[in-house]
Amino acid sequence: MKARYILPLLALGLCSAQAGERETFDFGWKFRYFGPENPADVGFPVTATDHQGQHSPAAAVDGDLMTRWCAKDQDPGKVLTIRPGFKEPVKLVMVYWEQVNNCDVTLEVVSGKEVQRARFKVGNQAASFLWVNGKTIDTMRVKVNGTNDKVWASVREVLFTGMNDEQLKVVHNRDDAYVHAAVEYDESGYKDVQLPHDWAIESPFLMDEPNETGKLPWNGWGWYRKHFDVPADFSAEKDRYFLDFDGVMSTPQVYVNGQKAGEWAYGYNSFRVDITPYLKPGQKNLVAVMASNLELSTRWYPGAGIYRHVWLTKTKPVHLEQWPTYITTPEIAKDKAIVKIQTGVKNTSDKPVEVRVHNEIDGVQASPATITLAPGTDGYVEQDVEVYSPRLWSCETPNLYTAKTSILVDGKTIDTAESTFGIRHIEWKKDGFYLNGERVKLKGVCEHHDLGALGAAFYARGYERKIEKLKEMGCNSIRMTHNPPAPEVLDLCDKHGILVIDELFDIWRYQKYDKINGYHIYWKEWWKKDVHNFVVRDRNHPCIIAWSGGNEVPEQGSKNEKRAKIGRETSEGLRSEFRRYDPTRPYTVGCNDATAYRNGFSETLDVYGFNYKPHLYTKFREKNPDMPYIGSETCSCVGTRDTYFFPLGWKVGYGARYFQVSAYGLSSTGWGSCPDIEMHAHTLAPDLAGEYVWTGFDYLGEPTPYNQDASNVGNFIGASQAEIDAAMKMLKEMGNKAPSRSSYFGIIDLAGFPKDIYYLYQSQWNPTKAQAHILPHWNWPGREGEKTPVMVFTSGDEAELFVNGKSQGVRRRGEGPTFTQKDKSLVVSKNQYRFTWEDVVYEPGTVEVVVKKDGKPWATAKRVTAGATAMVQAQVDRDTIVGDARDIAHIELALSDAQGNVVPTDSRKVEFSIAGPAELIGFCNGNPVDHTCMQDFNQHFFNGRILAIVRGKRGESGTATVTVKADGLPELKVPVQIAPASEEQLRK
Ligand code: GAL
Repeated sequence: MKARYILPLLALGLCSAQAGERETFDFGWKFRYFGPENPADVGFPVTATDHQGQHSPAAAVDGDLMTRWCAKDQDPGKVLTIRPGFKEPVKLVMVYWEQVNNCDVTLEVVSGKEVQRARFKVGNQAASFLWVNGKTIDTMRVKVNGTNDKVWASVREVLFTGMNDEQLKVVHNRDDAYVHAAVEYDESGYKDVQLPHDWAIESPFLMDEPNETGKLPWNGWGWYRKHFDVPADFSAEKDRYFLDFDGVMSTPQVYVNGQKAGEWAYGYNSFRVDITPYLKPGQKNLVAVMASNLELSTRWYPGAGIYRHVWLTKTKPVHLEQWPTYITTPEIAKDKAIVKIQTGVKNTSDKPVEVRVHNEIDGVQASPATITLAPGTDGYVEQDVEVYSPRLWSCETPNLYTAKTSILVDGKTIDTAESTFGIRHIEWKKDGFYLNGERVKLKGVCEHHDLGALGAAFYARGYERKIEKLKEMGCNSIRMTHNPPAPEVLDLCDKHGILVIDELFDIWRYQKYDKINGYHIYWKEWWKKDVHNFVVRDRNHPCIIAWSGGNEVPEQGSKNEKRAKIGRETSEGLRSEFRRYDPTRPYTVGCNDATAYRNGFSETLDVYGFNYKPHLYTKFREKNPDMPYIGSETCSCVGTRDTYFFPLGWKVGYGARYFQVSAYGLSSTGWGSCPDIEMHAHTLAPDLAGEYVWTGFDYLGEPTPYNQDASNVGNFIGASQAEIDAAMKMLKEMGNKAPSRSSYFGIIDLAGFPKDIYYLYQSQWNPTKAQAHILPHWNWPGREGEKTPVMVFTSGDEAELFVNGKSQGVRRRGEGPTFTQKDKSLVVSKNQYRFTWEDVVYEPGTVEVVVKKDGKPWATAKRVTAGATAMVQAQVDRDTIVGDARDIAHIELALSDAQGNVVPTDSRKVEFSIAGPAELIGFCNGNPVDHTCMQDFNQHFFNGRILAIVRGKRGESGTATVTVKADGLPELKVPVQIAPASEEQLRK
């Protein structure tokens, strides 16, 4: 076999370490969504109108009086339906209540055509009875009416007693759930899909789904089926076939030809399934995968289904490990670096074997090593390769190397791999993070995994666009919150010189908030396996500078010594597992409870992660003089792109109206603060390694401050009574449910359009770029003569503002009035990180700023009042994309007046269509309350902008034309070139 691992995404130049003969398994799938019920109930003869979390209907007939079915909410009209499945005559039915006080209950028994009904007023008794005197029961219903906010329908158990007072057992047939894995199965209800696939993003946003998880139907279960050929000469003696899943949301169960072949629990981790034993040579084989998501399992939108790539890997019985190498660079000097390569080999044959291992970097061979493996064992060898005049990996010059590995048995090459790595030195010192001996301040953002319009479905180019925008802002680091990213994300960070804190968990062994189905239910069985796959998959990436074991876990900060001890032990256990697989990087956890640095928890960490505690940085340093520390999560400043509310407020909760938030960059959550306050805290704590702003991009779900419907009145601080009344009217019309479905945290909106605050970060993080940005926009019909505060974000140090040529005064860094947020110890000038003119009176025309630095001209910026909308303008991020059904182009569209000024107040309708060898796969306008399905061709602009995403058809090429018909405007045609994909590209 020759070297077969060729770049999976040639267009992007990506590469990561994988062994074996690997090809894509993304195409030719069929999929069906089976609805939102708990998959644990499937096959049970019991259903209910709804249920709360784990308290599923099945619990009412499972023979266990301690478990219960509980309705989801207090709304009246809950029904539990049981089809007992046995034929014996029944004397008595008993319903044991967990809770149901003073409600109307009807018990109904259906026997053939006969229905017996009894109505009760249930007080606070423990059980209700229905004598049925020897009937056989087809269906039994428990109907509960008149529940209220204190009293919910909740049944411990329904028991059926036979004529001889014996207990009759309800017939369970759990296997029903798995008929979907059977080879002979009617697939007519299934549709064709390609992976990565997210079933929930195909839906419009639904008012009744929770805001917190994005108002999309991600919960419930779905089946994927794919038929594929296995060669006639396949045999388990000489071949191994694996399916490598980059991530399935969630709890995937993998079946091959009807037999269970593997499973995983955590939806964000990568895993391998050995399908060899189930394959049939020379015929069609079937892989069926069930993905199922429990409600109350996540605090944000997780996505749903096989949302990352799947690979088919073929090897011999003796082969390289799934992640074949572990590469470290223990010695780095100017003239020479020593590269240590640990190569993992597996012998799954029934004979002992002697394996020779070759490794090579840039044509320089390591001295060959040999390992002898008994049948069914694995092991590794270590080899050194010297690299002369190493080209170091850094943020500015992200040089990468490739190690070529091959293993030989009896002189014949039987497996090969290529592993990408970088030569760089990292060190965390008490005064910060050092890369190749130089201090690099971490200018980071936290990122969730979704890609806006694409949902959780992973497209490498979608993520690369994110990185490009973040880099342009001056960002040099990402914290992967709060779970493993898709593997290609780390390839991209390697390629673009982005430093990464790779984070594994949001939950450990204790439940977080109301998330009864969180990771804690899997913890005991799975945590070690998750650490293994996570670290072993990712540890060759030079971009990773620390492992994070968790985020705001309840274990961190207990004042109760018993709980605190469990917290420390859990964290120590994690640290030692991380070190087992990679001792070269430190271990951290994001802590939001300051007790964590006083109760001994911090001693379990190598780097202390502070979430939202800028006022404690200096105190921490006094107590821990030597420990490196970071702002692992900062700010949580909120805003809607191009949206402003008046009057301006400098306090955290100001600026929220009508389910949007003012974009002045001053509003934040109660626990956070605006960027100015955090940046000021850094000047007082110069040895802080840096920060990770929550968040770089908006994401689906967690639309704080509109996370929970009931909190809305409180969110209109500073609003007039008329505004509050208008908003409450809106809320009432919407059934007292807030419409928000995506976050307001992003520095960049969900579509990828920067909010104003982007330029604040750019001015501080990329200070050599001469830039100036004015806000707000200058289209305020009706505000003539009213105070309309203007701000400027710039890397200069002095600015003069003009409205229609009239000077509004000069502002200099750090001068003028001050404000505080978060803690009164943090007071900062309103002209320190921004320049502020609070008394500008609006008149249409031009607002302009002239900026100086060190007394010399530095930058200018201008905003004009846009005229009537006259056209749509388009900007495409790529001239040409590959026709491999994976590469994508982003078309950013803006409404503008005849002079080309964007009209920031225009949100008109727009209809898309496409012709040629490409498809339109997603749209996003960045409006957190827009409920249109992101795949619908009929959309609205939002504040003048919208994004459309184009994907080339697989195996096709030519010019695709996107037609954009905005209401009342001339049609716009946007061409996108689709280049033919090579055979290699199609195979990978
Ligand atoms: C943090 C949490 C994040 C996100 C953020 C919103 O406390 O770690 O996951 O919820 O708050 O401000």
